[in-house]
Amino acid sequence: MGIGTVGGGTFAVLARNQEEITRRAGRPIHITVVADKDRARAEAVTGGKARLIEDALAIVGDPDVDVVVELIGGNTVARDLVLRAIGNGKHVVTANKALIATHGNEIFTRAREQGVMVAFEAAVAGGIPIIKALRESLAANRVQWLAGIINGTCNFILTEMRNHGREFAEALRDAQARGYAEADPTFDIEGIDAAHKLTILASIAFGIPLQFDKVHVEGITGVAREDVVNAEALGYRVKLLGIARRSEEGIELRVHPTLIPERRLIANVDGVMNAVLVRGDAVGPLLFYGAGAGAEPTASAVVADLVDVARALTADPQHRVPHLAFQPDAMSNVSILPMERVVTAYYLRITALDKPGVLADITRILADSGISIEAIRQREPAEGEQHLPIILLTQCVREQAVNDALAKIEALQSVKGKVTRLRLETLA
Ligand code: HSE
Repeated sequence: MGIGTVGGGTFAVLARNQEEITRRAGRPIHITVVADKDRARAEAVTGGKARLIEDALAIVGDPDVDVVVELIGGNTVARDLVLRAIGNGKHVVTANKALIATHGNEIFTRAREQGVMVAFEAAVAGGIPIIKALRESLAANRVQWLAGIINGTCNFILTEMRNHGREFAEALRDAQARGYAEADPTFDIEGIDAAHKLTILASIAFGIPLQFDKVHVEGITGVAREDVVNAEALGYRVKLLGIARRSEEGIELRVHPTLIPERRLIANVDGVMNAVLVRGDAVGPLLFYGAGAGAEPTASAVVADLVDVARALTADPQHRVPHLAFQPDAMSNVSILPMERVVTAYYLRITALDKPGVLADITRILADSGISIEAIRQREPAEGEQHLPIILLTQCVREQAVNDALAKIEALQSVKGKVTRLRLETLA
């Protein structure tokens, strides 16, 4: 269902590697029918090798179909189609992160009732096999935290801003032209796409239900080129990170632009590439790196899921790998921490009047809030320049303390506009 970029890649990979895929799966996998509203596109991709229809409803009700591959994406018709397919006893493979992040709990419950599989490796980080790694290969570990560059569009834009001094809007236009961005690029640049993926990763890492609505989400629209330059001068790179961390008080789920020390491998993941850094108590840190979008990288994950489904067709449903890694009756209800209680370090850019005592006023407010300054940077004023950016890095502190201090700093007569605040993570 849906033969656009990922669907086309899936068709091509299955055709090209058919012989080896059959040897792996133990049986051939045939695409018998393709549904897409764009008939010309479907014809061009399939070249007459599959029956073409326009209405996907006919697929989910077709008794000859064993597995439905949902590559329509989004949250419009996909939920209904997937639930109907499950209701009709069909296994489902999907790349739909929005669907899994927002309706996954319901979908998996229905799938268990029907004894069918729902596989979704392609929903997170395209070709990187991170779902399987977290769900199966790291089963011995208590995962402590994970941090991922899981939106290629944002990583491309931030890389272009750093490497080529490009402005945000220009870099976004380029990302759209190259086909990285979602149909609605707001989902990329506002962090929603990354939050969908983080929701899924966190569930599998910690054995908690999917809770998209509890993710703190900030995109990259507030990151100016000068912040990228300032971070660089201080030895950091700015990345849009999805972070899930266990703490004594609960689980942190947050997506936001983040300064990371440039010496970390993940800080050097550039362009449209994705990476996920996972820390397990037994294995230590692991870094997964690869193409997070694109036709064949994403098809690599879709076809691997198809092979998994083909192999497990005859297995007793009770003995299959649980959808969210943990047995459904053993999920944890540990709470998600509100952002105000999260502890992290900060980069602050304050635009202030160039006159005696201004810096003292600012640092007094920070000191009174128990916020320790780790680094400070201010350049000389240009001729006639009255307001200057003051860059501060803080030590780790609770977000609420920073909120309170910033409100006081922004109220100072000598401070112009809002303070730019980016979080900083050492990922140590
Ligand atoms: N728009 C997504 C990205 C595609 O930029 O990463 C893959 O989910």
